[in-house]
Formats: sequence, C-alpha cells, structure tokens
Amino acid sequence: MNTGDLRALLTALTSLPERRRREVRIPLAVATAVMSVKEDVLSSNRPVNVSLAGCSGAPQLTKWQPTSDVVPDSFPTDYPKPPPHNPPKPAPNRAERLYSLRQRVLTCTTCPHLVATRNNVVFGVGNPEAELMFVGEAPGADEDIQGEPFVGAAGKLLTKIIEAMALNREKVYIANVLKCRPDMPPGSSGNRPPRRDEMASCLPHLLEQIRIIAPKCIVALGSTAVCGLFGLSEIKMSVARGKWKLLDLDIGDQGSVPVMVTYHPAYLLRNQTLSEKRKVWDDMLAVLNHLGHPITERQRSFFLSPGR
Ligand code: URA
Repeated sequence: MNTGDLRALLTALTSLPERRRREVRIPLAVATAVMSVKEDVLSSNRPVNVSLAGCSGAPQLTKWQPTSDVVPDSFPTDYPKPPPHNPPKPAPNRAERLYSLRQRVLTCTTCPHLVATRNNVVFGVGNPEAELMFVGEAPGADEDIQGEPFVGAAGKLLTKIIEAMALNREKVYIANVLKCRPDMPPGSSGNRPPRRDEMASCLPHLLEQIRIIAPKCIVALGSTAVCGLFGLSEIKMSVARGKWKLLDLDIGDQGSVPVMVTYHPAYLLRNQTLSEKRKVWDDMLAVLNHLGHPITERQRSFFLSPGR
C-alpha cells in the first residue's frame, strides 16, 4: 500500500457520514497501517510505503475495526496532488525523424565545391509514410532554385507517370542520390551528371531517408541513380532495366528493399517512341503489382501500339 492508495482510502472513508463510519469496518491490519502514518507525511508529496507486513498476523488480518476509530472527523482530506506522472516519450515518428535528418542535411558541407555553388540543398519531397519512393540522380538548375526534386521538364514527365499510376506526388516520396546540384563551370548553362565520389559522400543521407521511410519498393531512375544507390561504377541499362535489384538495408523485419530499375524521364524526353514509353510503363505496372494496387484495363493498355 502506498501513499496514493492510502489517500484514496482516507478520502473515501472521511466522505462517509459519522454514523456510516462507525458501521463500515476495515481490517485491523489496514487500520494499524493507516494509524502508523503521520498526518504530516500524508499531507506531503513524499511517497510513503505503508507495509502491512509489520502488522500482519491472523488476528490482525481477520479482525475488523470500525473506520470511525481510524479516521477521525478532523482528518485532512485536501492533500496536495501527487507529482504528475511523466510517461516515457513515444519514439519519434517518421515525419519527425525525417525533419531532423533534413535539418542536418540542409547544413551539410561535405563537398565544399558544391556548397560554394548551390542555392538550395534539395533534400526530398513527399509522404514520410510513402510505400513507394522514386530516386533520381541529382538536382538540376530548376531544382536547385526551387529546393525541390524533379520540378523541371523531366520532373513534369515524372509527375505525369506518377499520376498515370493513380498516385500523386504527395502520396509517394521523391529524392535524389546527390542532394546538391553538381557545379558547372562559371558562365555555362545546363547540368552535368554527379561524379561517383560526390554520390558516395551523399549516399548515407539517402540511405537514412530510405531507412526512415521504409518504402515497400523504390524506383531508381536511370543508370546514374542505380550506380549511386548501389555503389556501382557502371551498369548496362539494356540489361538492368525492368528488373528488381535488392538494396540491403536494416529496416525492421524487412532486411532489404526491392528497387525497380527504369529509364530516367529525361531519357524519355529524348526518345519519345511508343516502345520506350511502354518499357517504362511496363516497369511501373510491375511496381503497382508489387504494391498490390489494382490495375485497370485502361492502364494495362497505355502505350501499346495501335495494332496490338
Ligand atoms: N533529374 C534528377 O535526377 N533529379 C532531379 O531532381 C531532376 C532531374
């Protein structure tokens, strides 16, 4: 029995009219315990353990005492409230963990040449609980200005692909292997692909993002993204495209995440044939299938040649 129990007992007992207090009986052991605790201890916030063991014994446990003997009329009932109980904080959720990773990445200075030329660190965008993640190579000029991945011409095509999958940018998560725009010689326009060493320096940030989001699968957009993600020096897209590759990560019960290798949307902008579009679409159908999303007949028939 502790002070809290004792207070509750005393409050209940003292709220009884005197006649009832004489009628209501409590075991002698409890009565003795109550009497053994001084008022000043009870009315403080100090926890006091009242042991019944010291006054145990068959007679005391079976003998009953009128409560009026234990609780006099004057017994104080306005005890101070016990200090608030502080339960342990729940583990931070994905949004909180991603926010704190973002704060760290936004101030990253690992690649001084990129820090010198970047306008924004392009961390990533989308749903921290996404079941599907898209990974590109690096921000281009538009992304660097806006601080968001895939907002330029290739990004607009990626958005269309996502919407054709009956998803949207808010439901998925989009990130790049490299979070800063690869620097360009002063005065030159356009973008350059990220170097291997740059991607290797930045990869821990992406892997941490993936660990937090723990998507059911990832789509890697283009050979540079695949190489960056898997630390490879080169891959043949003609062989790798349309296949799943397992990315080993320590994510809960899921030890690895399947990655679908497909073409970068910028490639599709340069090669706008039905057959190339269909290859990417076939890869997206495989992704939808993996996620267990229903696929309509209309979706199945996108980019099939008119003759088929
Ligand atoms: N290409 C990429 O790989 N990523 C972007 O964010 C934009 C273009």
